[in-house]
Amino acid sequence: MTAALTLDGLTAHYGTTKVLDDLSLDVEAGELVSLLGASGCGKTTTLRLIAGFLAPTAGRIALGGTDLTRLPAHKRNIGLVFQNYALFPHLSVRENVAFGLKQRGMGGAERRAKADEMLARVGLQDLAARLPGELSGGQRQRVALARALVIEPPLLMFDEPLSNLDAKLRVDMRVEIRQLQRQNGTTSVFVTHDQEEAFSISDRVAIMDAGRIRQLDTPEVLYQRPANAFVARFVGFENLIPLRVAARDGAAVTAEGAGGATVTLDQDVLGPIPDRFVLATRPDGLRIAEDGIPATLGLRTYLGRSYQYRAETPAGAYVASGPLSAPRDMGDRVHLAPWAEQCCILPDEAAA
Ligand SMILES: Nc1ncnc2c1ncn2[C@@H]1O[C@H](COP(=O)(O)OP(=O)(O)OP(=O)(O)O)[C@@H](O)[C@H]1O
Ligand SMILES: [Mg+2]
Repeated sequence: MTAALTLDGLTAHYGTTKVLDDLSLDVEAGELVSLLGASGCGKTTTLRLIAGFLAPTAGRIALGGTDLTRLPAHKRNIGLVFQNYALFPHLSVRENVAFGLKQRGMGGAERRAKADEMLARVGLQDLAARLPGELSGGQRQRVALARALVIEPPLLMFDEPLSNLDAKLRVDMRVEIRQLQRQNGTTSVFVTHDQEEAFSISDRVAIMDAGRIRQLDTPEVLYQRPANAFVARFVGFENLIPLRVAARDGAAVTAEGAGGATVTLDQDVLGPIPDRFVLATRPDGLRIAEDGIPATLGLRTYLGRSYQYRAETPAGAYVASGPLSAPRDMGDRVHLAPWAEQCCILPDEAAA
């Protein structure tokens, strides 16, 4: 069973503090969308609204076309794997996993078989008879995962489900979650503040900031074509260089910035360039060159493939790179030029 989820203009407050601001999001049936963002940006609050643990002050929630906004939590039929979402301490691991099946009226033998199958998938078949108090934190988290998955709900929600696991188990479990989710085609919302985790597990990722979604797209698009400065910084475009177009010659654009900076950019590689814009580059996308942006080099760091430099320019401090074959010293006056593959064009937000 699977259903599309629609969040339409959700606003939420704790007391008088607004923590979600007009948030809209469509998750297609069978899709896994992650909410990614810094601590406190409103990820858990969004899940609490969908689950029915908190009522929005404005907006609407629908699942499979049915309006849930005013439905009590226990009637929403959503599978939850939350941070510290408690297991029943007096029930065995197997009984914990089978609990939702019992509530749905499934017979004892079938329940047990299904619970054991799910426990095997999360690697806990040998611990089925234990109590939750006799497990490690990571094992408990896997029981919670099995318990949510076994009822095959139309919507699954995960809140940092892997944060208590060690690095290897974390990667194994995220592959397992993704496989189970794909197999069952379960619409899913996954919350994390780990970019690699979000990008590896998701069809699309919503990057959140201060109660709003700043961009929702595939990991590939977010990584290569962020839509704004916030998302660009988030995915590693550390240098944001304000420029204005001085001349156009076919696809070649000459742009100027502070302190006599002049760069030439290719619209065939970067896409359309407006008259005023911000050039965003990763450290690898800003290289020591013959001309470009005048800079004074600061601290040099060895990165194996190249050197990375702190660089002071008339427009601000940037991070640039240079070849191992020609190390430069602190205080060297150089020019920095963009390397298109590691750059993108952003709208000039000050002008917008
Ligand atoms: N019960 C509450 N009462 C008052 N404020 C709250 C409550 N729960 C959360 N907040 C506040 O609401 C904002 C959003 O919190 P939320 O838990 O949604 O963040 P989050 O994105 O899940 O963060 P984290 O990554 O740390 O889990 C934060 O500023 C938080 O301090
Ligand atoms: Mg949270």
